[in-house]
Amino acid sequence: MSKYSGGAIPAGNDINLQLGWPSPSLFPSSSLNASTKTILSDFATASSSLIYGPSLGGPAFRTALSTWLSNHYYRKPDNITPSRVCVTSGGSAALGAILSRFTDPGFTQYIWMVEPTYFLACPIFQDAGFTGRMRGVPEDEEGIDLEFLRAELEKAKSEGTESTLKKTLSTGYPKVYKHIIYCVPTFSNPSGKTWSISHREKLVKLAREFDALVVSDDVYDFLRWPEDLATDLATDLATDLGPLPPRLVDIDRALEGGNTFGNTVSNGSFSKIVAPGTRVGWAEGAEEFIAAMAKVGVTASGGGPSHLMSCFMGDMISTGSLDKHINEKLIPTYSARYHGMMATIKSELEPLGVKVTVGKPFFSTSAKDSSEVQIAGGFFTSLTIPDHLPPSSVLAASALANKGLRFAYGEMFEVVGDAGSKERANAPGGFGHSLRLCWAWHEEDKLKHGVKRLAEALREIQESTNGIKAGA
Ligand SMILES: Cc1ncc(COP(=O)(O)O)c(C=O)c1O
Repeated sequence: MSKYSGGAIPAGNDINLQLGWPSPSLFPSSSLNASTKTILSDFATASSSLIYGPSLGGPAFRTALSTWLSNHYYRKPDNITPSRVCVTSGGSAALGAILSRFTDPGFTQYIWMVEPTYFLACPIFQDAGFTGRMRGVPEDEEGIDLEFLRAELEKAKSEGTESTLKKTLSTGYPKVYKHIIYCVPTFSNPSGKTWSISHREKLVKLAREFDALVVSDDVYDFLRWPEDLATDLATDLATDLGPLPPRLVDIDRALEGGNTFGNTVSNGSFSKIVAPGTRVGWAEGAEEFIAAMAKVGVTASGGGPSHLMSCFMGDMISTGSLDKHINEKLIPTYSARYHGMMATIKSELEPLGVKVTVGKPFFSTSAKDSSEVQIAGGFFTSLTIPDHLPPSSVLAASALANKGLRFAYGEMFEVVGDAGSKERANAPGGFGHSLRLCWAWHEEDKLKHGVKRLAEALREIQESTNGIKAGA
């Protein structure tokens, strides 16, 4: 395992607030089991699920998925048609497939990664031939720093590259983008931010202007709850919290103009809402984009990815067991863990100068009474330690060695190979002083203990830093 992988599953008294995995007690084993029985007990469904799958995914899965997405994002069953979605082997594999189909290192200039970045995306871009061409783009309070990105895209335009586009076009790649912009705009990993609608719209326009494809990992969208504890956790979340925050793909679709392939793709996954071992997800985008994506070479040879598992997911969606699991198990559990952890951060860490840095709050409009509800969600929160202290990597090393506590620290979120990203991390107020805590793995008690251990480790660092200062 690399230092970025989250380390071993914590044993004994150790606490791991880095691991971005759902705890096994949250896996919907019995409803998954019921779906496997339904699919495999019938000769017709067993046959169609055990054979090579259609390249876009099975029709039953795509119909169930598109209706489900439509209900959640639009509160209408038919706003997303099956032609806009295809099956994938989860977010990571889909990113690889997107790069295979829609980029060419001879033509595509840069990969723009929102920083602090989801570090495990870096090797996927490297594998696709973009080593040395990944560039960080900072986030402001509302999301991606649009001015920074525009200036960099302008600069890239004047650089020019040797183009192999003609070659790729003649060999059956219908659309190759000049740039990729990679982001997690809702309950971001690692920043915890949820981008404003205005930033989302401006990003889509920018992507159109510069022939960029925005790959949006929308893997945490369904896990949301009211920030305010006084708001009762709704029995019908879709109504009480309104639709999910609009994705970039929804905005791209709604805005006039644009090319037929679109400039955004939504990368969805069942990893965080069912279980990561399922290795199944979906992509949503413009019809032509999805049709082209499904023609990736590995699918041509092997059929639709994760076909059997997608049949089980289709059944969980259509029987309602997936929504039941999300609404009755995941959301109440994560919400309770989140609130417990945040209260402990407030009491233990804020007095030490630590700030919660998850950007401008995002409000959703309740469909029940049109009230504004501030929403929280996902797996992570982001904290920043005071600037006069050493970077959070020092705190992380000390917490691991002395307190049995692991968490993800600023240096991990740099964009690999981008000197500018490192500089920004180390600048005053930079993300080198940030850290990411996850509430998905441990239960509430351990989360609170973890935050207390973090406070102890921080106090020790503060004392030694003050001691050094006083003695200097
Ligand atoms: C932003 C983001 N994208 C993708 C993934 C991985 O998704 P999958 O398990 O579907 O490959 C994760 C998991 O931590 C993630 O946080």
